[in-house]
Amino acid sequence: MGIITNVTRMWLTRSVRPFRFTGEFDRTLPYEDCERLGLYIHIPFCRSLCDFCPYCKTVYDADLCGRYIDALIREIHMVGAQSGSQKEVTSLYFGGGTPALAAGRLGEIIGAVGEHFAVTQGIGVELHPKDVTVPLLKTLKAAGVTKISIGIQSFQGKYQDLLGRGAVDLPALSAALAQVPFETVSMDFIFALPGQTFEDLKTDIDLAFAHGANHVAIYPFIDFTFTDSPVQAMPKGEKRRLLDQITHYCLERGYVRTSIWTFSSQAGACYSSMTRDNFLGFGCSAATLLRDRFKINTFSVEAYCRRVDGGQLPSCLTLRFTLRQRMVYYLFWTAYSTRVDERDFARFFGVPLKKMYGLELKTARLLGLVTEQGGVWQMTLKGAFFYHYYENYYTLAYIDKMWGVLRREAFPERIEL
Ligand SMILES: C[S@@+](CC[C@H](N)C(=O)[O-])C[C@H]1O[C@@H](n2cnc3c(N)ncnc32)[C@H](O)[C@@H]1O
Ligand code: SF4
Repeated sequence: MGIITNVTRMWLTRSVRPFRFTGEFDRTLPYEDCERLGLYIHIPFCRSLCDFCPYCKTVYDADLCGRYIDALIREIHMVGAQSGSQKEVTSLYFGGGTPALAAGRLGEIIGAVGEHFAVTQGIGVELHPKDVTVPLLKTLKAAGVTKISIGIQSFQGKYQDLLGRGAVDLPALSAALAQVPFETVSMDFIFALPGQTFEDLKTDIDLAFAHGANHVAIYPFIDFTFTDSPVQAMPKGEKRRLLDQITHYCLERGYVRTSIWTFSSQAGACYSSMTRDNFLGFGCSAATLLRDRFKINTFSVEAYCRRVDGGQLPSCLTLRFTLRQRMVYYLFWTAYSTRVDERDFARFFGVPLKKMYGLELKTARLLGLVTEQGGVWQMTLKGAFFYHYYENYYTLAYIDKMWGVLRREAFPERIEL
């Protein structure tokens, strides 16, 4: 596995230099000139912890959560104060963990963000199905939230048991969603669970769209090495068949593929914090991507609070990109949307995409992985499968390794990938 990712990295970056993350960091972040900047805020508290989940999270404790939110607001002001005027940003997403556990303070956090940034395309919050009640949805709406994403995983008892998740009360969920509408209501599902069939997934998707969702995310199950989950991922051939079947089904129903694993039933419904050229992340484990660097905050809630209380940014690792590394990063994440526009690439880097990756694009087209029309490169169904497949490799080779270390060490000296 390491060989595939290393060779691909060397080939695409035209260098043997690895992605080198070090503990050094800056006191300020050069985001003022970034266009299409997105914001992400991490709330790492959950009622109980699911053993398959790789995210930075801890069991909710009212005192710790209170101190954490105080530090979070301080971090937002520390970074935000750098931009003299209100900087325009595309979106603000709250992820977790379970951000609803801090619902009473979301308005305060959004207010702090609003002192420095003007959000133009809405505010999204990830929810656990248990959070979907009329009072909570009203609190979110009053705070300015426009999009919600609910972690259903599966409506079927056998997979809820397999994943250690309780049953979802669908009538109650549906009634709450009908009473408090949002511009985007997304539901998350996990696919490629052992024994899962097309009928299982089709039922889940139909139930989602019939009960208040206008967007679904179908994530392939990833078996992270550091999680305790006994669930094993599905074999490759079976997974491809299932992915093709479910993709055809969604397209035949007229749903629009809004990203590699999301579909929407209504124009304008979207939920993605990933496909941004640049983003600023606040809170523990949150990542920041700028023109010349990527940085990630410490995963330790206590260490995060201490750093911020001491007046310093809570970054624990920073990667300074070479130009080619940044291009690969850009292309990898932009491809999430299943399309890359040559004009966007040229605007971002000041060089034509074909000049930098002409041979690779031509080869991908010959292999039937992409098509090109008017300077827009569109992934085919075959391309989407291989992207899924490579993304799985990437996640296990890079994210699994990095998060595995960051869960143990608050401030590692360096990591090379
Ligand atoms: C932070 S959670 C969602 C919000 C909420 N905490 C919940 O559990 O309902 C984000 C999503 O990541 C997905 N996810 C978590 N662990 C995964 C894994 N091992 N493989 C694939 N997807 C996973 C799930 O679909 C989950 O809803
Ligand atoms: S899946 Fe959601 S509720 Fe479960 S541990 Fe992860 S973030 Fe928490």
